[in-house]
Amino acid sequence: MKVENIKTVGVAGAGTMGQGIAQACALSGFDVLIFDVDADAAKKGIASIDASLQKSIDKGKLSDEAKANALSRIKVCENLDRLKADLVIEAVVERLDVKRELFRVIETNNAGSILTTNTSSIPVTQIAAGLRERSRFAGLHFFNPATVMKLVEVIQGVETTSETIETLTAFAAKLGKTAVVAKDSPGFIVNRVARHYYVEALKMLEENNSDVTTIDKLMRASGFKMGPFELMDLIGMDVNFSVTSSMFHAFHHDPKFRPSRVQQQKVDAGHFGVKSGKGFYNY
Ligand SMILES: NC(=O)c1ccc[n+]([C@@H]2O[C@H](COP(=O)([O-])OP(=O)(O)OC[C@H]3O[C@@H](n4cnc5c(N)ncnc54)[C@H](O)[C@@H]3O)[C@@H](O)[C@H]2O)c1
Repeated sequence: MKVENIKTVGVAGAGTMGQGIAQACALSGFDVLIFDVDADAAKKGIASIDASLQKSIDKGKLSDEAKANALSRIKVCENLDRLKADLVIEAVVERLDVKRELFRVIETNNAGSILTTNTSSIPVTQIAAGLRERSRFAGLHFFNPATVMKLVEVIQGVETTSETIETLTAFAAKLGKTAVVAKDSPGFIVNRVARHYYVEALKMLEENNSDVTTIDKLMRASGFKMGPFELMDLIGMDVNFSVTSSMFHAFHHDPKFRPSRVQQQKVDAGHFGVKSGKGFYNY
């Protein structure tokens, strides 16, 4: 499929990433269908998009008309069978079994479409293995917040065709993003390198070497935009923990990717960060 043929984008998952991706697509003129297994999450997702667009108006970066147009392009699908689009972007929980089961249904309803996953860490070839048609399946990895971050990793699975990769690269450009093609391996490029930013900071915390605010402050002072703990709070503790766990598993328990007990406890307590109001910091 050529990029000109992409008119409607389907987004599966209306959480942190699904909302941002839906907003970015709608602002670039695409019709967007969004589905979440939790109907409340979909409603909340639309309310968050509305609030985010309003913030842009308040900052003088967007007109009222552009906001109204973008919102009018986004429709919630009440059930998965209605998610029919030229391009589907999946942004649900970071679990291979859930993603595979979701794509099994999506594939049935979207013959000929390009199907993509926003996974942070799971090799796309593993997700594609559950599909009949794998040539039009790829990774399309946006960064958080998806409305702001310019980088998109496009990941080519073993059976993804070059035509699919070209179309996705052109699609990212239409969103005003810069696409970088990455090879299919756990964590791709950015998350593999960035993993140690979190893992090492958590290790220092476990060893009582320093504290959350000091580490964050020093990392910011040394040139990073955000410290590791505030970044984990932004990403979502549950998501960050799942990504580390997935990479630890994928690299055959290489200790350098070992998930942290401190982080596990935060997840157990429901302290997910910004989205739950409490993480390493209070919001
Ligand atoms: N948070 C980040 O910073 C970030 C950045 C890049 C990529 N990602 C990846 O994006 C994906 C989503 O992450 P997120 O942070 O948006 O998570 P999130 O927890 O904020 O949202 C996930 C949403 O998926 C929904 N969901 C779960 N199972 C579903 C299903 N079977 N069908 C439809 N909806 C379902 C949940 O109800 C929830 O609303 C993950 O794969 C994650 O690794 C996250």
